[in-house]
Amino acid sequence: MQTIRVNASQSYDVVIGHNLLDSCGERITQVSKAAKAAIVSDDTVYGLYGERVEKSLKAAGFEVVSFTFPHGEASKSIAVLSEIFDFLAENHITRSDVIVALGGGVTGDMAGFASASYLRGIDFVQIPTTLLAQVDSSVGGKTAVDIKAGKNLVGAFKQPKLVICDIDALSTLPEEFFIDGMGEVVKYGMIKSAGLFDKLSRHNLGNIGEILEDVIAECVSIKRDVVENDEFDTGERMLLNFGHTLAHSIEQYYNYTGISHGKAVSVGMMMMTRLAEDNGLCRKGLTDELTACLDRYKLNISVEPKPYELGEAALNDKKRMGGSINIIICEDAGKSFIKKMPVPEFLEMLKG
Ligand code: NAD
Ligand code: GLY
Repeated sequence: MQTIRVNASQSYDVVIGHNLLDSCGERITQVSKAAKAAIVSDDTVYGLYGERVEKSLKAAGFEVVSFTFPHGEASKSIAVLSEIFDFLAENHITRSDVIVALGGGVTGDMAGFASASYLRGIDFVQIPTTLLAQVDSSVGGKTAVDIKAGKNLVGAFKQPKLVICDIDALSTLPEEFFIDGMGEVVKYGMIKSAGLFDKLSRHNLGNIGEILEDVIAECVSIKRDVVENDEFDTGERMLLNFGHTLAHSIEQYYNYTGISHGKAVSVGMMMMTRLAEDNGLCRKGLTDELTACLDRYKLNISVEPKPYELGEAALNDKKRMGGSINIIICEDAGKSFIKKMPVPEFLEMLKG
């Protein structure tokens, strides 16, 4: 088991290891004096792990109530958030109680936002059950729901009190979601760790399980470092968006249904690195190395739109600042920087 301390506006541990669900109650007592724990989970994850988590919480002395919602991004909405608020109020959850988010990024983001806003803020603990949530969304305190105008447009920064990553929970995760999370894992190697990128380039989907605990811990450590330097996303944290600006346009092109986020990020990283290479902004050959690495995780896919067709949608991205846009470039594996580009220059670059 590995423990990574995050020193943000609130300090907390991220514990990563095997068979942690059965001891989650005991661990939560170490960070919370709550009488009641309110589990928030989607129907799939609750069906798989809800009973074990409830049992552990009860054994540790918590009174437990559970709220479940239909799995999937469509639930990350104001409507479901409102149901969560009603549930918390009906069950007399007070400011000194705790919310336990059990599930993937959808659950963590929405339960996190509920905990940031219910009674002006109560404690919450993350128990992430997807690879993406373990390496990314459960750490760093970004919480949100989607609205019609776009994803994650309403939210808050709210750090959890504790994050419990049980690697064994990933055994039931369908492969397509595991692959999606690997897109973010490769991203961490590209932006901050040549060693991680090298490790990933020597493994594949079949044997990555052998080093998964270390890989998750390395990703969490990278995210911890970035978040500690720039919790509120005004500088270095933007590096985490490598590949994401074009990815959002690709997802939009396919109406958010034809391609998963992890695959779109992978294509976005490959496109951006090719453009960087063509413009002398990164080492020659890096795009081929990245493509070969992604191929090992079934993430080397092609999409219909060409980079220049993605420009306009990319400009609606949150990374745009007036007449310029911040793009993330990797000059080599493990070395990234933010490049502020005037919009016309960015559009010209996309033409190749
Ligand atoms: P998700 O929560 O929808 O989970 C994906 C699917 O896997 C769901 O159907 C879920 O029921 C199922 N599932 C989860 N754990 C399982 C398990 N152990 N076994 C079997 N099935 C399981 O999606 P996700 O990919 O985890 O997260 C995507 C969300 O995360 C998006 O809404 C995105 O905006 C958000 N996100 C947030 C941050 C952040 O910093 N807050 C970062 C990245 C992504
Ligand atoms: N997933 C991007 C961030 O946490 O900033």
